[in-house]
Amino acid sequence: MNVTKALHSRYTCRAYKQLPVDKEILFSILEAANQSSSWGNTQPWEIFVASGAAIDRLRASCAESFSKGVQPIPELGMVENWPLALKTRYQEVVKVRLANAGIAREDRKGRFLQAAQGFGFFGAPAVIFLCRDRSLTQWSLFDLGLVAQGIMLSAEQMALNTAIAVQCVSYPELIRAELNIPEDLEIIIGIAIGYGDPDHLENRIRIDRRAIKDVVRYKNV
Ligand SMILES: Cc1cc2nc3c(=O)[nH]c(=O)nc-3n(C[C@H](O)[C@H](O)[C@H](O)COP(=O)(O)O)c2cc1C
Repeated sequence: MNVTKALHSRYTCRAYKQLPVDKEILFSILEAANQSSSWGNTQPWEIFVASGAAIDRLRASCAESFSKGVQPIPELGMVENWPLALKTRYQEVVKVRLANAGIAREDRKGRFLQAAQGFGFFGAPAVIFLCRDRSLTQWSLFDLGLVAQGIMLSAEQMALNTAIAVQCVSYPELIRAELNIPEDLEIIIGIAIGYGDPDHLENRIRIDRRAIKDVVRYKNV
């Protein structure tokens, strides 16, 4: 698979087959993503992976926190206000996902159950957590973003699916305790990984992008 094809075929996979991800395959994906560029080759990413019994324990504890109504608080915080155009796109994703799952907007229980999937890592057999030193500036988030994209594209090439999600890092203290993540590392984002279930309703949707002519301002005169 070439990069262009992987960029087009990747989607956020929100339901997985109950198949483990082989450790060697996982490491080959991380090895490829580890080649990403970073400011001055500082390589600010620290990577923690939970799989097997570790992800099962974490899934259970995060799902329990969510079901008890514990406030999900990712270490990077949440966005308070989106510019209108972005908010509209965000709301459209929520709308499409609810409609696809046949959940009415006013169906609180249905919405809760859909959200719970994310806090349970979408049932994925492994989750990759990207962390960085707390003292770093916003620039290093750029570097972690490159690694995240590398992981997702490399996984795509290996016929694995992924879901990058803030929901996966919404109970950082539980993740920290399970994976012994030192306090000086900030837990930035989680990427669920596994073999997607193509028959699951959640995996049937594809989210559109803006037309490239509306994104790029090009001038050559
Ligand atoms: C930083 C980041 C955080 C995200 N958090 C979530 C999340 O918490 N839950 C979720 O279902 N999807 C999450 N997503 C996935 C986006 O909703 C998804 O990428 C977007 O809607 C486009 O859909 P696609 O990836 O299927 O093309 C996140 C994506 C990024 C890059």
